[in-house]
Amino acid sequence: MKKSLISTASLDLETVKHLMALATERLDEGYATSLRGHTCATLFFEPSTRTRLSFELAAQHMEMNVLNFNVKTSSLTKGESFEDTLDTLMAMEVEAVILRHKEDGLHERLLGYVGDELSIINAGSGVTDHPTQALLDALTLYHLVDDDMDRLCNLTIGIVGDLRHSRVASAHIALAKIMGWNLVLIAPDELQTFHDPTEHSNINTSDSLKETLPQLDVVMALRLQKERLGEGESCEKAQALVESLQITEALMNSYAQPECKVMHPGPINWGVELGHCLSGRHNPRTLMQQQVRNGVAIRMAALEWCLNNPEVVEEDVNPAL
Ligand code: NCD
Repeated sequence: MKKSLISTASLDLETVKHLMALATERLDEGYATSLRGHTCATLFFEPSTRTRLSFELAAQHMEMNVLNFNVKTSSLTKGESFEDTLDTLMAMEVEAVILRHKEDGLHERLLGYVGDELSIINAGSGVTDHPTQALLDALTLYHLVDDDMDRLCNLTIGIVGDLRHSRVASAHIALAKIMGWNLVLIAPDELQTFHDPTEHSNINTSDSLKETLPQLDVVMALRLQKERLGEGESCEKAQALVESLQITEALMNSYAQPECKVMHPGPINWGVELGHCLSGRHNPRTLMQQQVRNGVAIRMAALEWCLNNPEVVEEDVNPAL
């Protein structure tokens, strides 16, 4: 019986804490754990550097067999269905499929098809979700407050940029509801989230970065998701809006608290959503390197939780899974 990780909203606080603890253990113990003999496959229908490589590395750290499914040369191009593809993988005793796809709802449909016989892990779905990204960000914040859960749940986090087309923003809205921390969604109307977060008192929106920055413990920038702009949405206009919200070192020094950190899920368009002055892997203002490092650990935890963790009771997690 396998668990899947399809949506951030399906997690609860206990599970998030469990995954963060497991990931922290992996980091502290030099990744010592084993899922030897288990097999996973990565199926990425959209470009990826961090997510794909960190899932593959996470699986390799645990001595798993990792199949890198090449979408372009697969039989999907000959008209084979997703369902037949998953049947084929299951016949080869693949136990987990790590899937990124632009279509919202595909992961849920495939979960309905495989049930608990195959674990499906969402590595990014359309504009709606990216649970392991939200979890690795939570882990980064947890370490920022010295592993203090109370401080973590009291943080104020701003997300700025193209929220409308970002699955990272969607995942963070779901995560803020679980964690209870304060989330401020900063964007002009054109790029503001399509979710309605107003029923949650800990989630607010703003169109002013300068007014919001002084309250924030962390500000997360998002790139313009050009590939998801709809008809009638001008790329030039959206780009200019994101540039007008650019986080620079000078802006941080003028408006943010001295300890306020900058995060970004990557990939970054320097000079657009983040100023060049914030680049450099040792920049003390930024947490991007920690995010990537934590991504490996959180994906180890996610794989372990899905394949090998009898102690989490199914109905405590999500009755739908
Ligand atoms: C994000 C993604 O692909 O959804 N990046 C990531 O997974 N690290 C965000 C993005 O593409 O901008």
